[in-house]
Amino acid sequence: LTRAITSVEVRAARKDDAEAIARLAGELGYPSTTAQVVERLKANEGNPRQAAFVAVAQGRGVVGWIHVSQVSTLGSDPRAEITGLVVDSEIRGAGLGRLLVERGETWARERGLTSIGLHSNTIREQAHEFYLRLGYAVTKSQKVFRKTL
Ligand SMILES: CC(C)(COP(=O)(O)OP(=O)(O)OC[C@H]1O[C@@H](n2cnc3c(N)ncnc32)[C@H](O)[C@@H]1OP(=O)(O)O)[C@@H](O)C(=O)NCCC(=O)NCCS
Repeated sequence: LTRAITSVEVRAARKDDAEAIARLAGELGYPSTTAQVVERLKANEGNPRQAAFVAVAQGRGVVGWIHVSQVSTLGSDPRAEITGLVVDSEIRGAGLGRLLVERGETWARERGLTSIGLHSNTIREQAHEFYLRLGYAVTKSQKVFRKTL
């Protein structure tokens, strides 16, 4: 951690973190309201297959979050997926992203999962450097399809 960030706690996300989580979701490119985040946190309460953690910096409050999920398909064993990760743009490069990913990896290990992955938009080149640095490797590139119902 850089000197600017003296003390950071990573803990489970709570409802009263929703405002900060929503603001950071906007930085990630997924604009969300506090009310929407409250609803999403509520919907996931008691679901052991997902978890959200926040990084709280002394004097600054919530400065990052990670959402991790257990995904299962018929064709593969359950694995963990990082379904969202963002650190406040003012303090990137201070080690917080690493702390959050390590927390997500610990959560996955505790669930007995033996691999963790993520999907990342091809334009997020800085994030790709970050994941490579943390020991992640690119296994394939995909097209994402969607249909409005
Ligand atoms: C990606 C992101 C979460 C990384 O968080 P961060 O706090 O800036 O990263 P850290 O400071 O923990 O970096 C961890 C390591 O990765 C390296 N790293 C981080 N960004 C890097 C970059 N752009 N290029 C090269 N290395 C990088 C750091 O140097 C550090 O290495 P070290 O620990 O060996 O010194 C953050 O930049 C972010 O929120 N980006 C915007 C949102 C986003 O893209 N999220 C991911 C969506 S898939």
